[in-house]
Amino acid sequence: MATAVERVAYAAGQAARVGWYMGQYLLANRISPPELPKVDMPEGTGFPKTADILADLRELLRRDWQNIDDGLYRLPHDLVRDPRRLLADAARFLRDVPEVARRRKEQANSEVFREPPAGTEKLPRYYRQNFHYQTDGYLSDRSARLYDHQVEVLFGGGADAMRRQALVPVARYLRGKPVRRMRLLDVASGTGRFLTFVKDNYPKLEVTALDLSQPYLQEARRNLSPWSGVNLALAPAEGLPFADASQDVVTCIYLFHELPAKVRAQAAAEMARVLKPGGLMVLMDSLQLGDKPQFDGLLRLFPVAFHEPYYAHYIGADIQGLFTDAGLEPDGTVNAFLSKVMAFRKPGAT
Ligand SMILES: C[S@@+](CC[C@H](N)C(=O)[O-])C[C@H]1O[C@@H](n2cnc3c(N)ncnc32)[C@H](O)[C@@H]1O
Repeated sequence: MATAVERVAYAAGQAARVGWYMGQYLLANRISPPELPKVDMPEGTGFPKTADILADLRELLRRDWQNIDDGLYRLPHDLVRDPRRLLADAARFLRDVPEVARRRKEQANSEVFREPPAGTEKLPRYYRQNFHYQTDGYLSDRSARLYDHQVEVLFGGGADAMRRQALVPVARYLRGKPVRRMRLLDVASGTGRFLTFVKDNYPKLEVTALDLSQPYLQEARRNLSPWSGVNLALAPAEGLPFADASQDVVTCIYLFHELPAKVRAQAAAEMARVLKPGGLMVLMDSLQLGDKPQFDGLLRLFPVAFHEPYYAHYIGADIQGLFTDAGLEPDGTVNAFLSKVMAFRKPGAT
């Protein structure tokens, strides 16, 4: 049970956070008003009002607090952030807004393919794109530095709270287990935001951040520098460089909507392969069509506004089937604002 001081700190910290990132969302739209092509939608497609989105964000934060109060995880370690860093990130983000808007207008999504940054030529073609129309795709230090801020602005300050919902099945699974002898692999770790929450709650758990982007892994190294027992792996999700049955927990957040269908199936099979019998798999990604029908229109619009070449297929795909085909058993699905968390277990003894 959390203390009254923690309750006040959480409420004040999250209110400031939502105001800060939503303010920048509005400012970015003023600097470069979004000009989107018309998207054809099936008759009767639901579209959320701003009030619906805000109500769902409030519900996410209520649940985040409830999880803390229930002892599932700690108060976020960076509830109060260095104001100099916040300002520097905001300035960097706002300076980049016109460039992103230009790419969106010109549908320029292959700059990093046409002029590949050094050392990136051998990366898979499907990956060498300007995802989200972001500057340098996933392939530069500048992009790695901007990414977390961009994502928080996009989700109105709710991105980290969504990621923490993936901690819930992890906390339930690890309860009473010898954590210091266990391993967690985070596939497509990006800048390691989720792992900072994992390590803050389980400092003795050995974790690995895996990603295809060298600059993002460098940023993850910086973000995870307060903790020991952190490994980094530069490798593809569809070819994990780990032995069969070597991981107790595998997590994967916001990767599957960025993969072509065939690679998604390969990645799911790889995650199932490296999991120990009795192990836990937690997948978090975007909502899909029908999860919250009033949000379907937003899901159909998203890949047009933010270059997401595989998203339109993802929102209608059978993701659970990829993991059950790979031999895992479903262990619960929970929607969290614009995301959902799907848990699976590998049959066998823990
Ligand atoms: C949308 S970001 C999500 C990052 C992070 N999990 C988070 O919560 O913000 C997608 C990440 O997947 C990585 N990625 C994309 N395709 C990959 C692949 N085939 N194998 C490994 N990482 C990949 C990208 O480099 C990027 O860091």
